[in-house]
Amino acid sequence: MNRDAHEHNARVREQFRIQAPTFTDTGFAASNLDWILEQLGPRPGEQALDVACGAGHLGRALAPHVGHVNALDLTPEMLVHGDRLARDAGLGNVCFAVGDATALPWLDAQFDLVVCRLTLHQVADPAAVVREMVRVTRPDGRIGITDIVLVPGSADTDTEVDAGIVERNTHLERLRDPSHGRTLHPAGIRRMLADAGATVASTSTRETRLDLEDWMARSDTPATAREEIRRQLDSELAGGPATGLRPGHDADGRTLTHLWATVVATPGPVPAA
Ligand SMILES: C[S@@+](CC[C@H](N)C(=O)[O-])C[C@H]1O[C@@H](n2cnc3c(N)ncnc32)[C@H](O)[C@@H]1O
Repeated sequence: MNRDAHEHNARVREQFRIQAPTFTDTGFAASNLDWILEQLGPRPGEQALDVACGAGHLGRALAPHVGHVNALDLTPEMLVHGDRLARDAGLGNVCFAVGDATALPWLDAQFDLVVCRLTLHQVADPAAVVREMVRVTRPDGRIGITDIVLVPGSADTDTEVDAGIVERNTHLERLRDPSHGRTLHPAGIRRMLADAGATVASTSTRETRLDLEDWMARSDTPATAREEIRRQLDSELAGGPATGLRPGHDADGRTLTHLWATVVATPGPVPAA
């Protein structure tokens, strides 16, 4: 691992040590699980893997529908939290392990269903994570990637995304959470899957509105950074440059809206007719 990736992973561990207690089974972390399961179609007896599982929200949601779930993450505090929640729920088929998503400790073609939620935007090398997910999926298995994404443009190619939005979005996301990597475009996720040899079967998206103050509190964002984020979102609301965070207001105060995408793929090329 190169020095940049090593330093990035240290920032990730520090950030998610702080965030671990906020990954509860109510509120933000439990969002959109039913929608993701609909896209994945888990089957009885399947061997599943939740990559960068955090507190295992997706792996634990899959557990009643499959045979067994392995769940791996870089941050021990997230895993301890997830393991406790799995035990409290009486789930006996979820196994948590510390590890790096860019070097999965499993053989080729070992799993029927390999998933990853809300993490590609977080890692130093998302393409390496996608390659590893494809590698450990059986030829007849499925890969499911869910992440926050930038809103697709009309041509839906990642090269058409306005560089200014990417820059402003990265700046604000990193002010909030210094371990944020870069928010992708749905076409960027599809391209990484294709580059890893997979075939994309479907893409589905869902709007997810968040309370701005809660979003910043969960990552323990410093006061000066919170002030700068509020300032830039207010500027966007007043007609200033777009940040990709789509600010708004509701009865409780300022909001932002993330777009979530779930991309489902099979690990090889399209079978010949
Ligand atoms: C935003 S959280 C999402 C957690 C979980 N997937 C979920 O949907 O609730 C991002 C997670 O990615 C993990 N992570 C980041 N980089 C990683 C890497 N290279 N290998 C394994 N886990 C990683 C962090 O520790 C953190 O738990």
